[in-house]
Amino acid sequence: MSASPYSIPSPALQREVKRRRSFAIISHPDAGKTTLTEKFLLYGGALNLAGSVTARKNQRATTSDWMDLEKQRGISVSSTVLQFEYKDCVVNILDTPGHKDFSEDTYRVLTAVDAAVMVVDAGKGIESQTRKLFEVCRRRGVPIFTFMNKLDRPARPSMDLLDELESVLGIHAFPVNWPLGDGPRFRGVYDREQKQVHLFERTAHGAYRAPVSVRGIEDENVKAAMEEATYSQVCDELELLEGAGAGFDLGKVLAGELTPVFFGSAANNFGVQLLLDRFLELSPPPMPRESGEMIIDPASEEFSAFVFKIQANMNPKHRDRIAFVRIVSGKFERDMDVLNGRTGDRVRLANSQRLFARDRETVDDAFAGDVVGLVGNYDLLIGDTLSSKPGVTFDEIPRFAPECFSFLHNKSTAKYKRFRDGLAQLLKEGVASEFTLIDNEGPQIPLLGAVGPLQFEVLQYRLEGEYAAETRIEQANWSLARWLKPKEGDPLAPDARPALSLGAALARDSNGWLVALLPSEWALKTFSDKNEDWIISEQPFPP
Ligand code: G4P
Repeated sequence: MSASPYSIPSPALQREVKRRRSFAIISHPDAGKTTLTEKFLLYGGALNLAGSVTARKNQRATTSDWMDLEKQRGISVSSTVLQFEYKDCVVNILDTPGHKDFSEDTYRVLTAVDAAVMVVDAGKGIESQTRKLFEVCRRRGVPIFTFMNKLDRPARPSMDLLDELESVLGIHAFPVNWPLGDGPRFRGVYDREQKQVHLFERTAHGAYRAPVSVRGIEDENVKAAMEEATYSQVCDELELLEGAGAGFDLGKVLAGELTPVFFGSAANNFGVQLLLDRFLELSPPPMPRESGEMIIDPASEEFSAFVFKIQANMNPKHRDRIAFVRIVSGKFERDMDVLNGRTGDRVRLANSQRLFARDRETVDDAFAGDVVGLVGNYDLLIGDTLSSKPGVTFDEIPRFAPECFSFLHNKSTAKYKRFRDGLAQLLKEGVASEFTLIDNEGPQIPLLGAVGPLQFEVLQYRLEGEYAAETRIEQANWSLARWLKPKEGDPLAPDARPALSLGAALARDSNGWLVALLPSEWALKTFSDKNEDWIISEQPFPP
């Protein structure tokens, strides 16, 4: 690694970087992500924002046309960033869209965070979407904190939940606190570090009082609050944890190998502050990132950032395009001039905004870890690097091989231009990727690939809502894409062709790379056997 202006930290910026925490809350739909986000905002004193999180969830139709789809399907496709100050920390919560099919966008958001809080419904345990999101975090080595939610309802045995973290996700768990019962017998949590019980009191009419802290599990008030059987079970469990459990190791937490576990009830605002306080103490501030051979220090004077999300038409009143950039180093200042590493052009960042649900606020300055929305027609693509000096390129955004393919037919020839313009914009946003079939005799109908089928539905819905272009989806029966390069010779040569197997087709991706589209693993095997002189890659090749 070489020394560069990007590797020299500036003392003036170090303080700003140290107090930033940028994270995502990940969960399976309905586990309590929205509720927990809202409670976090309450602690940050951002009461008006807290309301807007629920409002956003409940009244999406008022936000933009295409969000009707979110409402109908009970999903969240859009995402925003919430920022607030709490105990000298600047907290950035990056909202991730949640649906099992709609994951590519979420994955990209996760490249912009430094940690994740995983919310688990303690009555259900680890669910499918959580597992996928967890995998992405782990691949990136992001520290993960776990919140076992809904303890006010009957929960799975706590020991089983811990075992599940180990057996299903393969991560070691360290319970920072431990629940005293669950469901109607839930009485609070025992903080294992402070050796303190936090009692949860439920009043007769379903109203809840603030928790009362009491010292020690042996305290008579604690014993009196709990049924005898629950009390002795909790004591046995705590003894077991002390005896058998491994100690707390911050290094392992930061490496993503150990997850601190907290129990509570977000809806009842119980255990939330314990989680937030400890999370902010233990989770990392923005860390250095790599650009080729260079290490970019977040506190360096030189500005650098990357685009992780592009969204057009978020607000029908504005009808504009927003590129979300995560700052990696330096200080962002409105109107600054930066270089787009992909195009080599200099760009003036004039219209920079922070987004809170439907509200926008101009950003004048921001630091590493912060997210800024650049509003307007900047020629930016997902994955672009912006920097004050040349030579910086972040390779942070993973590319995913599509698993679903469809032809997208334009229903009205009179609206062809709208159809093409809308499609071009949505492809830029990364909603799907386009392929061009080779040796195709018939008319060229756009062939699209996506990770999940819902992406096509979103695309179709948005084309109609935002561009008045009606379309028809025709599903294609390929389910695998493999990128191809001859082991020798020019990979982009027009006549370079592998041998085809049954059901396979050849296409080019938007960067001109040759791609084999295949209907099954079996077809892939035949294809590979026939083409030993070709490199066959699961990962898309870079542009
Ligand atoms: P999500 O963003 O992960 O999809 O979940 P969200 O916070 O919207 O929570 C899903 C449901 O679970 C909501 O109920 C919410 O109130 C409830 N919930 C969240 N935390 C707790 C908890 O600690 N205990 C209990 N018992 N429920 C919890 P809903 O009926 O869908 O909506 P609402 O009418 O209650 O808002």
